[in-house]
Amino acid sequence: MKYTDLGLVNTRDMFADAIARRYAVPAFNFYNMETLSAILSAVRTARSPVILAVSESAMKYMGDDMLIGMIRGAGFAPRDGVALHLDHGGSFEACAHAIEIGFSSVMIDASKMPFEQNIELSRRVAEMAHQHNVSVEAELGTLSGIEDENTFGTTSSYTNPDDVVKFVGATGIDSLAVAIGTSHGAYKRKSDDETLRFDILAEIATRLPEFPLVLHGASSIPPHLVRTIDEFGGKMSDARGIAPQQLRRATEMNICKINVDSDLRLAFTAGVRESLSNKPANFNPREYLGAAMRRITDTCLDEIRSIMGSEGKL
Ligand code: G3H
Ligand code: 13P
Ligand code: ZN
Repeated sequence: MKYTDLGLVNTRDMFADAIARRYAVPAFNFYNMETLSAILSAVRTARSPVILAVSESAMKYMGDDMLIGMIRGAGFAPRDGVALHLDHGGSFEACAHAIEIGFSSVMIDASKMPFEQNIELSRRVAEMAHQHNVSVEAELGTLSGIEDENTFGTTSSYTNPDDVVKFVGATGIDSLAVAIGTSHGAYKRKSDDETLRFDILAEIATRLPEFPLVLHGASSIPPHLVRTIDEFGGKMSDARGIAPQQLRRATEMNICKINVDSDLRLAFTAGVRESLSNKPANFNPREYLGAAMRRITDTCLDEIRSIMGSEGKL
């Protein structure tokens, strides 16, 4: 299936506009009908472009036919500004498969490989993807945190600004994910004082003027969602994310894609817990999943407005 037959777009024009007008396109992860619908309600209300991100494990969870069936069912047209993106593709084959079934953008994540191997794999993926007019993201530097259900990386290394020109030139990628102090998951910070390394980001942006940069691990972990989860039987009081003002500042410095997964998981969980606690006799999933969807939509809308700056940018 070609992505254009699904009404999707690649990320090239999106990123050019985001760089020119200094905002970030939200990349929200989805893994079922509820998360997809809730994200779409928010972007439709806000008239924001969106990158619908799917990890390899989420792809396995949904199954290719169900995943692409839902995308087809959404009835996109290019003017809707929707890209379907493989998040953290771990191999050439995973990226090729995603492109074959209808993805318009892929990430090849070889960031844990030695520099030259990262270049070689990212270059091969870019060459293959560009034959299909699909965009490619790669990563330099490594983030700590949970990258998938089975892997928890505890080591992180910032992106070295001295490497970025060679990496982008040698690979031909369309966007670069950088490590400047974010991390995956809900436990990113011990204190609220920790800040992103804007000095490193500034160096990178100077060396790659007008080049699209990507921030992974960028959930802000809204405190009200953590409080709701804990109030209704959860236990997440140490969860802490990246301050929204810091993310907003990053969008002024060529960060034009901000990845958010954990915040939507929190929203989903808060909605389900609150709904079930308030109505212990309810056993209709549409009721508590409906509550979850409303929480996700609200969270996406908040972040489109206060972090991404992408409202009305379609
Ligand atoms: O960046 C990683 C994403 O949060 C994906 O997580 O593999 O559990 O879907 P997942
Ligand atoms: P969070 O865990 O901060 O939401 O990061 C998501 C992400 O980077 C997906 O690629
Ligand atoms: Zn990520």
